[in-house]
Amino acid sequence: NKVVLAYSGGLDTSVIVPWLRENYGCDVVCFTADVGQLVVKDLREEFVKDYIFPCLRAGAVYERKYLLGTSMARPVIAKAMVDVAKEVGADAVSHGCTGREMIRHVRFELTFFALNPKLNVVAPWREWDITGREDAIEYAKKHNVPVPVTKKSIYSRDRNLWHLSHEGDILEDPANEPKKDMFMMSVDPEDAPNQADWGLPVSVNGKRLSPASLLAELNEVGGRHGIGRIDMVENRLVGMKSRGVYETPGGTILFAAVRELESLTLDRETIQVKDSLALKYAELVYAGRWFDPLRESMDAFMQKITETTTGSVTLKLYKGSVTVTGRTSPFSLYRQDISSFESGQIYDQADAAGFIRLYGLPMRVRAMLEQGI
Ligand code: ARG
Repeated sequence: NKVVLAYSGGLDTSVIVPWLRENYGCDVVCFTADVGQLVVKDLREEFVKDYIFPCLRAGAVYERKYLLGTSMARPVIAKAMVDVAKEVGADAVSHGCTGREMIRHVRFELTFFALNPKLNVVAPWREWDITGREDAIEYAKKHNVPVPVTKKSIYSRDRNLWHLSHEGDILEDPANEPKKDMFMMSVDPEDAPNQADWGLPVSVNGKRLSPASLLAELNEVGGRHGIGRIDMVENRLVGMKSRGVYETPGGTILFAAVRELESLTLDRETIQVKDSLALKYAELVYAGRWFDPLRESMDAFMQKITETTTGSVTLKLYKGSVTVTGRTSPFSLYRQDISSFESGQIYDQADAAGFIRLYGLPMRVRAMLEQGI
């Protein structure tokens, strides 16, 4: 028997290696993905192109604020594990998610189910009686496994190319302001340069830069200007509340640019329908249902509806804020000859009277009823 383990190199996953051998008597294949934090199997371009960009296109934001950085990274890792399991002929996969964060288990395991329902899943932290860090270090010593016994950060963090998330410690009281030194991707807007940066030449479709290097570049510029800090209380999958602080500098810039292009190229009703579906889309991604046919179908809709969402947006980055200063698109629905206060060639003032009488009919009827007319 062979098992593919999602391996980070940290304490939690290192002790799993001897434990699997001992308890399941199987060979352990360690799998490590690079979504922007390590270098082993490089999934960065795939992560940005096939996971981040679809969410960006869909406008997927969880509970008004969260840009889903952690949620999107699980399915790309889990999918690669399923591929590796096939390559090496493994019949099981394993991950080191600890008990407290049920959602991580869900995101891994729903992806395993969706892509290969025959794989067995071993989640040691749900099975063994190692209860905490000290226990785990002890167990590793006994089995001669070298583990990185670094001083554990007081925060629970998760980082990748899209974001850095902070939870725990003083953040557990939603009334506490995060400490200045907690942030790692972005400077405090107060300390950001007094000079704005703008006119970024950006090609989202990767003409000039590949998706991953485009994002890395935007993270750098955005971080320098204190862009994309999000502090929120969110509902976890099972409904308990959790306070988290996110840094998503590049993502925040991209969201601003995409929204701006949509307002130029999509009509009112299309934007409304798209926004309403985006809510569901974000919820599915958050809940680990990336490979759900519902998300895939909604993605087909998003792709179709944004066919004309292309163009260029000029943004000004200044002390934590992203301001749009200009936009152009070959598919712009804005026409100066129609919208202009000056000339107004196509729109005839005389058309207004009849339209307003009909448009206001229900209001007049209600008023007539109320006033006995
Ligand atoms: N709450 C977010 C999510 O579930 C981020 C979790 C990241 N984990 C962490 N320990 N910071 O997607």
